[in-house]
Formats: sequence, structure tokens, C-alpha cells
Amino acid sequence: MSLKENNILIFFCNGQKITDDNVDPNLTLLSYLRLKLRLTGSKLGCGEGGCGACTVMISSYDRLTKKITHISANACLTPICQVHMMAVTTVEGIGSIKDGLHPVQERIAKAHGSQCGFCTPGIVMSMYTLLRNNYQPTMTDIEDTFQGNLCRCTGYRPILEGYRTFTKDYQNEANCCQIRDDVNNENPVRWSKDDGLNGRQCYQVNCCQMQDDLKNLKEHSVNSQSNDNKCCMISNGKRQISTKLFQPSEFMEYDPTQEKIFPPELILMLEREEPKLVKFERNGLTWIRPVNLLQLSVVRNNFPNSKLVSGNTEIGVDVKLKKMQYPVLVSVSHVTELNNIYLCETGVSIGASVTLSRIEDFLKENMDKLPDYQCKSFAAIVDMLHWFAGQQIRNVAGIGGNIITGSPISDLNPILMTAGCTLDFADTRGVHRSLPIAEHFFTGYRKNAMKPNETLISINIPYTKKTEHFKAFKQAHRRDDDIAIVNAAFRVDLHDGVVHDSSMAFGGMAPTTKMAKQTMNKIIGRYWDKSLLDDVIVSLANEMSLAPGAPGGMTEYRQSLVLSFFFKFYLSINQETCNKNIPKVSPSDTSATFPFKRDEVKSTQMFQEVANDQSPIDPVGRPLVHLSAYQQATGEAVYVDDMVAFQNELYMAVVLSKKAHAKIKYVDATSALSMRGVHAFIDHKDVPGSNLLGEIEQDEELFATDKVTCVGQYIGAIVADNQEIAQRAARMVRVEYQDLEPIISIEDAIAKESYFKPIYRLEKGNVTNGFESSDKIIEGEMRIGEQEHFYLETQSCIAVPKQEEDFMEVFSAAQDLYLSQTTIANVLGVKYHKVNIRTKRLGGGFGGKETRSCNLSAALAIAARRVGRPLRCMLDRDEDMASTGTRHAFLGRYKVGFSNDGKIQSLKICLYSNSGNALDLSASVMECALFHLQNAYHLPNVDAYGYCCKTNIPSNTAFRGFGRPQAFLIMENLMSEISFSCGMTQNMIRELNFLQVGQSTYYNQKIDEVHLLKRCWDECLEKSDYEVRQSKVAEFNSLNRWKKRGLSIIPLLYGVGFTEVFMNKGAAFVIIYHDGSVLLSHGGVEMGQGLYTKMIQVASRTLKIPSDQIFTDETSTNKVPNTSPTAGSVSSDLNGMAVKIACEKLYKRLEPYRKQKPDKTWSDWVAAANMDRVSLFATGFYKTPLTGFDWTTKTGEPFHYFTSGAAVSEVEIDCLTGDHVVLRTDIVMDVGDSINPAIDIGQIEGGFIQGYGLFTLEEHHWSPRGELLTKGPGFYKIPSFTDIPVEFNVSLLDGVPHTKVVCSSKAIGEPPLFLAGSVFFAIKEAILASRKDCGIDGSFCLDSPATAERIRMACSDTFTEKFPPPVPGTFTPFFIRS
Ligand SMILES: Cc1cc2nc3c(=O)[nH]c(=O)nc-3n(C[C@H](O)[C@H](O)[C@H](O)COP(=O)(O)OP(=O)(O)OC[C@H]3O[C@@H](n4cnc5c(N)ncnc54)[C@H](O)[C@@H]3O)c2cc1C
Ligand code: FES
Ligand code: FES
Repeated sequence: MSLKENNILIFFCNGQKITDDNVDPNLTLLSYLRLKLRLTGSKLGCGEGGCGACTVMISSYDRLTKKITHISANACLTPICQVHMMAVTTVEGIGSIKDGLHPVQERIAKAHGSQCGFCTPGIVMSMYTLLRNNYQPTMTDIEDTFQGNLCRCTGYRPILEGYRTFTKDYQNEANCCQIRDDVNNENPVRWSKDDGLNGRQCYQVNCCQMQDDLKNLKEHSVNSQSNDNKCCMISNGKRQISTKLFQPSEFMEYDPTQEKIFPPELILMLEREEPKLVKFERNGLTWIRPVNLLQLSVVRNNFPNSKLVSGNTEIGVDVKLKKMQYPVLVSVSHVTELNNIYLCETGVSIGASVTLSRIEDFLKENMDKLPDYQCKSFAAIVDMLHWFAGQQIRNVAGIGGNIITGSPISDLNPILMTAGCTLDFADTRGVHRSLPIAEHFFTGYRKNAMKPNETLISINIPYTKKTEHFKAFKQAHRRDDDIAIVNAAFRVDLHDGVVHDSSMAFGGMAPTTKMAKQTMNKIIGRYWDKSLLDDVIVSLANEMSLAPGAPGGMTEYRQSLVLSFFFKFYLSINQETCNKNIPKVSPSDTSATFPFKRDEVKSTQMFQEVANDQSPIDPVGRPLVHLSAYQQATGEAVYVDDMVAFQNELYMAVVLSKKAHAKIKYVDATSALSMRGVHAFIDHKDVPGSNLLGEIEQDEELFATDKVTCVGQYIGAIVADNQEIAQRAARMVRVEYQDLEPIISIEDAIAKESYFKPIYRLEKGNVTNGFESSDKIIEGEMRIGEQEHFYLETQSCIAVPKQEEDFMEVFSAAQDLYLSQTTIANVLGVKYHKVNIRTKRLGGGFGGKETRSCNLSAALAIAARRVGRPLRCMLDRDEDMASTGTRHAFLGRYKVGFSNDGKIQSLKICLYSNSGNALDLSASVMECALFHLQNAYHLPNVDAYGYCCKTNIPSNTAFRGFGRPQAFLIMENLMSEISFSCGMTQNMIRELNFLQVGQSTYYNQKIDEVHLLKRCWDECLEKSDYEVRQSKVAEFNSLNRWKKRGLSIIPLLYGVGFTEVFMNKGAAFVIIYHDGSVLLSHGGVEMGQGLYTKMIQVASRTLKIPSDQIFTDETSTNKVPNTSPTAGSVSSDLNGMAVKIACEKLYKRLEPYRKQKPDKTWSDWVAAANMDRVSLFATGFYKTPLTGFDWTTKTGEPFHYFTSGAAVSEVEIDCLTGDHVVLRTDIVMDVGDSINPAIDIGQIEGGFIQGYGLFTLEEHHWSPRGELLTKGPGFYKIPSFTDIPVEFNVSLLDGVPHTKVVCSSKAIGEPPLFLAGSVFFAIKEAILASRKDCGIDGSFCLDSPATAERIRMACSDTFTEKFPPPVPGTFTPFFIRS
């Protein structure tokens, strides 16, 4: 064993042997793949194990067992040295467009499961690894495998449906007697077994299993479709209704025997010699991996200050986010003695390096063999591991790492403490000692009793006794892959109903995992009965009390959870114990103990097929696959940061303000500039043009001059050789501040009257008279939190100064190329034509890359000009979240008057938005909010104000819906308040107040589409079987005290168009080359919404050529100038018309050739025209016939047209924890004649799930001094795979061509997001039912998002009553809302 020499790193990547004799151990596997091997398929979405975009498969060979193991892992947290002598498979290694796709890649693409595609390689690799281990998984296996993967675009449904085709169940169905014929049938009957359950094969009418289903559907169809003859089965009209967005029969077969084998050379190498210690040293880090305890001791004696590392999931995050530095890391992952797991006489012994996945497998396997009573703590561990991180983390994280980290919210420590486990340590001399992991093991926040020279060797978990009962609980913000808010484990030893012994431990209630010692002692010798319960509740409330403002916040909720968990434990013991001394549990109370039942996801998508006589080459109306989907699935799609480095390229890192409001006393970059590899520091003094940014008002400094107005504001930037040096140097720039008082929240801003001007006002009728004629009046307020865009690809840009003159080429992930161009030109002080912006695709935008991308690109352009070299920057996730703003938080204060039967008479309302430190688009957002306040309702008398609050948080900005969802939710909340007040159902109140045909909006725009709104509403009620389910919900609620259900329907009426009239324009430039191929350029940016695909469909129809002859390369300002942003859902409308106009010109020019030689082909006509010197390129320009709204005269029409929809959602809540599950959602949406139903349905589902996040899950926390605390997927939770409705049905309204827009279609991207409000109001209904059981009647305030905390606290009961909210102003809160 030599500790002197370095080893050569050897691993295999996609079958290729990689040897590196000078590896930098600081690199992660992801950086190595992307930077050194130029394999850019694996993406960087967060760098902290929270998104799964970097997922790869790591395979290893065990020379003793001869077993090959495949695991999915986060490449961003895997140290490169960790894969020494292993095989890594990336998305590029399993298939490619050139060599053929792997079925996993093909199916996600063809099932429309890839929109922006940034998450796709990670999802592909998770699925691939699952199949390598289990080639016929169940749907549960598939859902589990995706626990660590996020997607912000698709809403997950299409991914699950595409991959359902790998399951055994699916394949059994496909082998049904009839189905094999169907696969070969060119025109299979469009039918699926579960009433259109997508992803399943069509079934022939006479299939043995289908008769009943068929009968049901026929009846349903005939009823629901009246006599329209639209159902696929009964259609004899021209356009059928289809339920199939993809044809599984087109999928290539999956043959697991054809998978790539583990590299034989690596097996030989591993067989040839015993595993050896390896050491790598470079750039200030020594990384050593011993293989046995003896070696470990020697290493630790040589490096007494070394840090042990196992799975690196904790240390990796510390290094990345907390910037911790460890000069010597000693990996214990391969130490044999630490990898043993076995059963012994007293229980199970688990080596400290055994991964959580292995523990789960081992315990599951042995629990089947052992008597149940012995395994109660094992069962609790297995259950808990399901909710512990995602699979990629569990595959590498060791149990020792979890224990030693000593996090107060560790999920395992409460169980291990309660179970009475012991820990076995060994020091560097080989001396062993054993310690119980009990109360005194954790000595402080992340501190424990382990000595510095000790290593944790193993954990011993005893069997439970016959008389013992054991349970563990966890509550998190999100169910999958989230850290606990509070967790707990309980053990009680009952002898004849009397407590003989007990233990209880809680996480999230103190700086360490805490045992409830007093309570445990108190109950010894007591009967397990109601009086014990009452006493424990009182005792735990005292023992686990939290001071207001305690770290972690949510104090009342956390304390309530402690009691709720014990209550659940108490009841579950009563349920499982049959003893005369133990009270029986009432049927209604059992609802406290049963977990949510989440069935397999099922779904239907219904859309109208094209007419029978539509030309087969005309793709409009067909569910064409997103044109980049295959590249995205193979990792070949190129995003900005995937571009090959330019020669001489440097990297830029931003220096961000750490203060929300302060004067800058000085900035000192001296030590940063003295670092090797640093080229420059730039700040406001380097801006040759204007330092001011802003699309409407130039009120934002690019680089702060003498004052900072938010945390995250740019103060300067460092240019260096690479990212690592640039970021390190940026941290060394010293900034001295003088604090000023910040304004963070809307309430602060109102108190200080801090508003941007103007204050908006819209009026109608006479509100005073309206209130006088009202029977009832309600006054109240509602808050809606902000929403992070969480595009998977963070802001990124490359600026390339041209050699000649002052030209600059910029590759930017931006939604508004014109704004990027003009901003850069302004800061550089050059004419616009000297800046060209190019964008190929975005890994998601959602409004967050409309204006906010300009700060980065402008700073980069200045720095690139200054150093005269190409420059790159991709913000880290935390930098992105800290600096780029979000959807606006809103506060609505209202007074509404209505009649006894619920009809609105008068509304006075003030909307306040938290606009942040600069105006950005806040004024337009507020306009849109005011215009949409009324949603689908008639408001006779209104007085509405809009205030944009100026605060010291980063400027908030556009986000899908642009102020509308916030306004809609406030209006719908009024509907729910009115319904509670009138004792009528919410749907009755909504329907009663609907706009009627012929009525106008309250700002006097005539609406032609009211009848479509009504159709959506009626169809949605019918399709969802609303009435029947409403009574079932009532029945469920009457039988269950602790679980409640709610059902809600909401309508949507959405005005389409930019409120700034000049922006309602589109432009295109179409080139036909001599060979007939067509290059299409337009002003729209592809960010996953399928715009390029739709535009090619439009061009294909207009030119009457197949879509595969048309290509779009990128969007750039030197091809199509002065464009509008790709935003507001109107890009297809505007650019589509422009494309059509350009193509019509070209089609016309070719007409003589077509007429002359009708028997020739397109390319012949093109070639002939070219020879005749006919111009084969054309531009198209389109503007909508909009007048716009004049705010001075309050006249005019702001919107081109309206689109409508409706959604019904049913939820179940756990009243004791605030958890919920969405049982079913039905959506009916008007999209006119869909250009591409797969894309449109994808937008509906994706938008809905994003809205679901907005209204139930996603929440930012700010420190009272204005620092964002929720910077990354670890703390900010977007919906994950298992958050989607268990049943998810979407129908496009049929037979509604829309004459105002290209191909009779309608806008789609933004509107459906609000339909997720149906979940919010279903939750509110469920809470209402819970409150009624406690005797609390009438309306109550539920702010958005309806998080578990808000749901629990709104379900007031005897537990929550113990923790009244502390009086504001008497304490400093841990976090606040903005
Ligand atoms: C995305 C993500 C999600 C997560 N979710 C959860 C969750 O749901 N619940 C939860 O509880 N935790 C969670 N964690 C935290 C973390 O994954 C766990 O604590 C994990 O078990 C750490 O194990 P590791 O092997 O990766 O530790 P490492 O990062 O390798 O090490 C952690 C600490 O343990 C020490 N250590 C490791 N092995 C030994 C040993 N044998 N002897 C002495 N010291 C040792 C190290 O020196 C270090 O201080 C999550 C982390 C991430 C990144
Ligand atoms: S980039 Fe690795 S998990 Fe997000
Ligand atoms: S397709 Fe999943 S993040 Fe965009």
C-alpha cells in the first residue's frame, strides 16, 4: 500500500476505456463527462441531487460473487474518483439517432413525454437502469424509480403512459386474443380498454374482454355526446373523437438480451488482482479509497485531519452550496468491513457504508422469512426509506453518513433511537467501542459523541419483541423526495394493555433528534387508554414546545404534528391490539390511520381527429411528435451550455449583493484579481453605454453603483479561465455595506406606501348603490404566494465578440431576442445591428427568460467586450433563484355584496402585487390581473385598484398566465366565500353568476365565446360525473373523521393577446432551396412548447409538402428582426399567421410551374422556378386587428379573443397532517381546431401541474432581512411524478373552429394553468367538512398555496388549539412571505 504515488484513474464510459493519469479529484462525474469527455447529454439542473437531470447508470462487478450491479446515480454528486474501476453509462451510450434509439428513448419521445427536453436524458437513464435490473417492472416500480427526477414541462402523465408499455401488465394486455391482429391492422379501431386509457393498445370490438366496457362506453358516449355522433365507435360523421395520442404498435420491441454487456476487459482487470487502495491528488484535494479497515486506519493516521466520505450526498452538497473545503477525503464506500449486512441472534447488523437501497432490499427479503413481530422496526425503516430522498440518492448514500451527519431532520435517526440501536466504532488503533444511539449520542446541531479518530463501523438494530409495537411517521412539504418538516418514531411495549416500556423520538423539533424522555417515563405502568392519550397530548405539548420564531419556522404546525403523530400511533395500536383494557377504535377514527390509497395512474385524452378527406401529407390537426424529441431523448439536443467551447473562451461568475437594501461603501476585488487564472473584474464603471435596464421603465441598474436594492443584485463579475476559478474569485470580492431598512413583504410596502406609479383603477356601475342593494356583504383578504419558474435549464449565455468593428454574437437562452439585442446594444453603446442574438432552444422558460435573461446576457456582453474573448456563463441553481425574480405574490383585499341567493351585486377590491426592486413587467402583469379579475362572471358594479408594490426583493416578472392566475384565484375565492355564506354549493354560485351570451366584461369588451365557456362547463360536469361523485364525497366525509374529501369545479375565461398593442405582431422568413428543402425562420423561440413543430405543420399545409422537407434551425435577430417575445401563448397565433403568409407567397410563385407540369414533383417545380430566376424566399408579417385598451379614457379592447375551459378535481386530505392527494381531475378545454392535439394536450397537462404547484405546494421563504432561504430543489418543491392526479382526463372541445387564428386554432400555453385552482377549492371544501365535524361553521381564510401546513392548521381541532399563533411583533419570525 503506497500513499506516496497517485494512481491512474480507470473507468469505462459507454463501453470505452478511460484512463486519466492526472485526474482532478475535485471534479464530479458530471463535470468530467461534460467538460472532459464532451458528453453533454447528462444535464446540470441543480448540482445538489434534487432534480435528476444528471442521472447516469453506474455498474460495478463483484469479483467474489461474480455479480454485476447497476444503479442509477446523480452524476452531479458522484466524485469522479468514485467511479474508478466501474462502468458508467450515459444517455449517449444507449442509443443515438444515427445508430438507432433505445426503446426507452423512443417511447418517451413518441409518447410525447419530452417537451423542452432538459429533464429527458435523466428520466431516460432512470428508466433504463430500472429495466436493466427488472425488465418487466410494475407501474409502482416505475413511479418509485422516478422519485428523484423532476420535469417542469410535461406534467409527467405522458412519460408514465409511454413507459407503461414496458410493464408486464401492459404486455399481458397486449397479448390479449384480439390484440395481436390489431397491431397489424392499419386502421385499428380507436378504442382502449379503460374508457380510453391512453398508452394501451386499441381493442377490437369483439375482444373477449371488451364487451362490457364497450357497452358502458357506448352508453356513456351516447349520453354525453347527445346525438352528435362524435364517439369513435359510433362516428359516421367526418371527424372522429380519438383517445390515442400515440400508437404503441409503432414502438420497437424491447429485448433485454440485446443490452450492452459489462466491459469484459474490466471484469478481467478486476478478476486479475485483489481490490487495492487508490489515491488521487491534484488542485488541493487528496482523495483516497482504502478497501479494508487496516488500510483505513493507516490512511487516517497519515492524514489525521482527513474527512470520511461514503456516498457524498451530504458532503457533495456541503462543498457545492456551503462552499466547504476538505483537503483530504477518505472514501469508506469500498471498505469491506463496512459493507456487511447480516442477521444475527439479536437483530440485524448493518455496515456503515451499506447503502440505503441495499438495506431496503435486505430487510424486505428477510422480513418475508422472519416472524412479523420481530420485524416491526424493520418495517418502519422500509416504509421510511420509501420517502427518503430519491432512488439515485438511496443507491449511493450510506446509513453511516445519515447517522453521523446528525441532521435534526434525519429520517433514520428517530427510528434508530427508538428501536434501541447500538453503534459500533473503531479508532485508528483498532480499538472498538459500542454506544447506544440514544438521547445523549447527539451532542448539538450536527454534532455527536464519535471521537475524531473513530470510524463508525456498523449499526445493530434489535428485533422487536412480541409485546412491542412500533411505528414511524414523516411529514414533508412534498411526499416524494423531500426532507421532513417533522418526523417521529414510537415504540411501546404493552403487557396486558399496560405500558411496560416505551420510547419516542422526534426530528425537526430541536437542533438534534430529540427523545420525549419525560413523556416516555410518565406513561410507564399506565393503561393504554383515553386518559393516557389525553395526558400524553398535554405532556408532549410541553416537552416538544417551540418558541415563536424558532429555527425552521412553522412552529404551531410542527407542534401540532407531534400530537397528530402520537394520536395516529395511539389509534393504530388500538386497532392492531385485541385486549379488553385497550379501547376499540370507532370506524370513523380509523381514518386517522389508513394511508392514502394511490392507485395506478390512469388517464384519458380525447381530441378530434382530422377529417377523413384531409390530405395524408397535411400534418395539421395530427398528434405529430415534437420535432426535437428524438434528439432530446438521446442527449443530442444542444442547449447553450452544451455548445463546444470557442477557442480562447473564458468563464464569467457574478458577484451578487448579500444585502436587501444598503449603501455600498466599497468594493474590493484585489485578492480575487490576484488569483491565478483570473482575467478581470468588471462592474458599473466598465459599462460603455447605459447601465440602466428595463423594457418599459429603465429603472434597474445592471451593476449596482452606490446602493443595492435586493439580495442577488449584480454588483460585478469576475472573468476567469474556468467556472471553478471564476466562482471562487467572485466569492473573494469584498463588499462593504451600510445597512438601510428593507421592505420585503406586500404588507410592509402598503404600510410604507411604497408603490410604483401609476396606481391602476377600473370601474363599472356604482358600487355604493350595489352594496346598498345587497343582502349580504363579506369583507376579507387573500394572499397568493410567488412562484419560482424552476425551468430545468438555468439562465445561460455565451457572448462572442467579433473580430471586426464592434459586432457581438450572443447565444442566449432567452424568450425575447429583440429585448436581449436592444439591451445589449444599449449597455455596449452600439447600434442594434451590431448585436446578433441566436437561440436554438430553451430548457424551459415559462416567462422567466423573457426579460430576466437580459441581466446575464448584458453583463456577459460587457465582460466579453472588455476582455475581447468569448465568454460563457450558466448560473448555478442557487444564483439563478436568488437573482432572477419569480411570479408576483399577490394580496387581494375585497368587499363583496350579494343577494341571499348568491348573486354578486357589488365588488370593491384592491390588488397588490409584490413587484420587487424594479418595475420590469409588473405594470403589465397588474393590468392583466385587473382585466381578468372577473374570470367568467358578470359583475354589475365594480371598483378595482391595482398597486405594484416596490420592495427590496429581486424584481418579479412574467410567469405563465401573467397575473391572471392570481386574479382568478381571488375571484374564485369570493365564489367559495359566498357559497359558504349562502349555504349553497360552490358550483351553484358559480353558475348563477356566469356571464350570459351578449354580456361584456366589466371593462366593456364584448365576448363572443360565452357559449363555449358554457359548453366546457357542462361537458366537464357530465364527463366527471359530478353530481354522483358529490354525493359520494358527502358520504365519505360522514364516515371518516380524519380524512376528508372535496370536489370542486371551476371555469376559465381567458383573454388572449399582449395588452401592449405593438407587440401583437409576428414575422417569418421562409427560404426554399434549389433541391426543394425549406428553411423556416420566424420570431418565436422553441422552449418545449412545440412551437417549431406547429410552425412546420402550418408551412407544410400551406406549401402542400410533407413536413419532413421543412426545417427550422434556430431563431436569430439577424434573420427575423424586431420580434415580439415568445410569451403570452400567442406565438403560434402570431408567427403561424406570418409563416402562412410567407408560404402563401411562395406557393403562388410556384403556381405556374405546378400548372404547367402537374405530374412533376415539388422539387422539380422549385428547380424550374429557380432556373427561371424566380425568388424563392419570402417574408410574412402579421398583426392582429387589435385596438388595445386606453387607460386614460378606459376604452378599447385589450384582447384579440377569449378562450375557455373548465376543470373538476377531487382531493382527499389528511386532517391530522395536512397531506393531500388528488384523486381525479377532468379538464375540458377549448383550443379551437387544434394544430397538434398532442402538443396542446401536453400544454394543458403541463400547465395544470405547474398551476397545481402554484396553488398547493411551491412556496418561497424569506428571512426578515430579505434573503431567499429556499434556493434550490432541496427547499423549493415543485410537483413530482406522484403528485399528479391519480386519474387525469383531458378533452378538447370538439367542432369549434376559430376563425380569427391560423388553421382555426386557439392559444393554449398559459390558460390551463389556472384550472389547477379546482384542486385548491376542492381542498377548501374538504377542510370545510373537517371544520364542520369540530362544530366550526362558515367561511375561513385559506391562503395559497394550500400547503400541508395551511391545510392542517385550517382543520382546527383540539390539537391545533393548543398552539395559537403568537402575536405578531412580539417575536422575530424565522421566515416571512414576500
Ligand atoms: C437530494 C437529497 C435528498 C435527501 N433526502 C434525505 C431524506 O429524505 N432524509 C434524510 O434523512 N436525509 C436526506 N438527505 C441527506 C443524505 O442523503 C443522507 O444523510 C445520507 O444518508 C448521507 O449518506 P452519505 O453516505 O451520502 O454521506 P456522506 O455525504 O458521504 O457523509 C456524510 C457525513 O457522514 C460522515 N461519515 C460517512 N461515513 C462515515 C463512517 N463510516 N464513520 C464516520 N463518519 C462517517 C462523513 O464524514 C460526513 O460527515 C438527502 C440528501 C440529498 C442530497
Ligand atoms: S443536476 Fe444532478 S440532480 Fe440536479
Ligand atoms: S421536458 Fe421535462 S423539464 Fe422540460
